[in-house]
Amino acid sequence: MRRACVIGYPVRHSRSPLIHGFWLREHGIEGSYERAEIAPDGFEAFVAGLEERGFAGANVTVPHKEAAFRLAVVEDPVGRALEAVNTLWLDKGRLQGTNTDVAGFLANLDQERPGWDGDLDHVVLLGAGGAGRAVLHGVLDRGARRVTVLNRTLARAEDLASRAGDRVRAVAWHDAEAALSDAALLVNTTSLGMAGQPCLTLGLERLPPSAVVTDIVYVPLETELLKTARERGNPTVDGLGMLLHQAVPGFERWFGVRPFVSPELRRLVIDDLQRARPEGQE
Ligand code: ATR
Repeated sequence: MRRACVIGYPVRHSRSPLIHGFWLREHGIEGSYERAEIAPDGFEAFVAGLEERGFAGANVTVPHKEAAFRLAVVEDPVGRALEAVNTLWLDKGRLQGTNTDVAGFLANLDQERPGWDGDLDHVVLLGAGGAGRAVLHGVLDRGARRVTVLNRTLARAEDLASRAGDRVRAVAWHDAEAALSDAALLVNTTSLGMAGQPCLTLGLERLPPSAVVTDIVYVPLETELLKTARERGNPTVDGLGMLLHQAVPGFERWFGVRPFVSPELRRLVIDDLQRARPEGQE
């Protein structure tokens, strides 16, 4: 029986066991996918013992993605650029890592809004943390000609922009509304709007009606940002698809079948989110 797990701290909110459990049943695979709540000081030892405990690999979530990058052999250019990986597997005893967050973000938009990257002149990115870095990598890869990064802590946005090249500029948060006036895509990668966190208050009056608006927050599924955007007619994409799509490559590595992100899987996770107390995500 093949085993995999998600390693995080805390990890009890993780929906990864639900997602991988669905695919294991769907494909009739005798395997298991578990939660492993491991504090930072125990991470290295846990990862070193993965094979001995019968694990084919693992997902890695907050706060271990950078530590996983340091411990694994990372051949994929995305993982190397972000210096963070979320998927580990063993190859002849050697720990390998990759970052599937970027691919998950892009696949979600591809599935929900085909053609979203057809004319990506200007992207407005809210947030300059780990998720912001991943999304920035993705939109640059898809040919965004200009990206404006806004962040509460301007210095963090400036740091991200200075390392990303001349297509990217950092702007102070209070200039956000002006930055929206010619945006083709608006992405929230901050935790604002997540259950238990402060609201994201951003006037969308200047945003072109054709701009796609997406949020990586998926608890709640429709954030205030997405609701405001939908009500004024903008196309919107919620953050749940990113979670579902980032899981695909890991499952394929560990269990040998490339799974599909189906409406049934999405329904299952939405039902679970609705049952759970709103305590945040991953
Ligand atoms: P992640 O890896 O999920 O991106 P992170 O690195 O902690 O997590 O980044 C969280 C993001 O949400 C950052 O952009 C953070 O802004 P700061 O860099 O200024 O901390 C943003 N964020 C979190 N709480 C916020 C708040 N109350 N107001 C504005 N931005 C907030």
